[in-house]
Amino acid sequence: MNLSAIYSLIASDMQAVDAVIRERLYSDVPLVRQVAEYIIAGGGKRMRPALLLLSSGAVAYPGRQHLELAAVVEFIHTATLLHDDVVDESSLRRGRDTANTEFGNAASVLVGDFLYSRAFQMMVGVGNMRVMQVLADATNIIAEGEVLQLMNCHNADIDVEDYLRVVRYKTAKLFEAAARLGAILGQSSPEIEAGLADYGMHLGTAFQIVDDVLDYSGEEGEIGKHLGDDLAEGKPTLPLIHVMRNGEPAQAELVRNALEQGGREAFPEIIKAVQATGALGTAMDVAQAEADRAKQALIALPDTNYREALIQLSAFAITRRH
Ligand code: IPE
Ligand code: IPE
Ligand code: MG
Ligand code: MG
Repeated sequence: MNLSAIYSLIASDMQAVDAVIRERLYSDVPLVRQVAEYIIAGGGKRMRPALLLLSSGAVAYPGRQHLELAAVVEFIHTATLLHDDVVDESSLRRGRDTANTEFGNAASVLVGDFLYSRAFQMMVGVGNMRVMQVLADATNIIAEGEVLQLMNCHNADIDVEDYLRVVRYKTAKLFEAAARLGAILGQSSPEIEAGLADYGMHLGTAFQIVDDVLDYSGEEGEIGKHLGDDLAEGKPTLPLIHVMRNGEPAQAELVRNALEQGGREAFPEIIKAVQATGALGTAMDVAQAEADRAKQALIALPDTNYREALIQLSAFAITRRH
């Protein structure tokens, strides 16, 4: 199942969101426009805005505020990417040089701040206190997640629970917020809102675990990022945790040393250990379990094409190659 098929239901809304994004990128400061337009022009899957649109469709929200809020979640996401690529020292994103490579770290950090604050201006414009609360909380948790991850860099003793906490904070929280906002706009029952939020949280968790698998097994041309960035930063992701727990002592030692030192030298050897121990399959099993829970969380929703598209999105999170 590819994304454009899943998005076909919301194609005209996605175009409208695109127009909002372009309009709201405006700044009198040329470098702000240049950097922001550079990363936005790289494209991206636009999963968070799509999730918000599908969620508001699933509860039959009749208004127009979902378009503005979909742009808001994409801005928050884009701001995190600008900052993340500086922190991770990544040089490729969306198939081209990262903004930090092209414009430098300072410009990336500052334009990331511009996007966060523009997102907050837009959500204030929507004028709904619950919406603001959800987005303010999510943005705060994402920041905590990135800091938690920083604290866990080079930590070969991290357990799966701590790894999952980072994933829930840095990635799943924004998926959760996007799905919840649709329900809030549609003035859904608490049960429906909780179900959609739960769906987003599990979907985002599956999505990030797969991202961590693709960092060892993807095709650069498809994912548009360099493989091995996680290892270079000493990030103890699920595939590596598996090798350290279940590999031969030599394999576990290899991973531990590489994590503690960082860098890319051990990458080819680590790929072999990750493959030989079945670590990617084990991580994918965890991701699949999350995707299954996401699907189950939709149980209370009325049976519509939107609900069906959300189910398909949970399958895409697992089968995706990009
Ligand atoms: C990248 O997110 C950051 C993660 C949470 C793994 P996406 O893979 O959704 O990035 P784009 O927007 O499609 O480029
Ligand atoms: C996702 O983590 C970071 C954010 C949620 C900002 P990654 O560091 O794995 O994301 P990529 O791989 O750089 O896109
Ligand atoms: Mg990164
Ligand atoms: Mg990654």
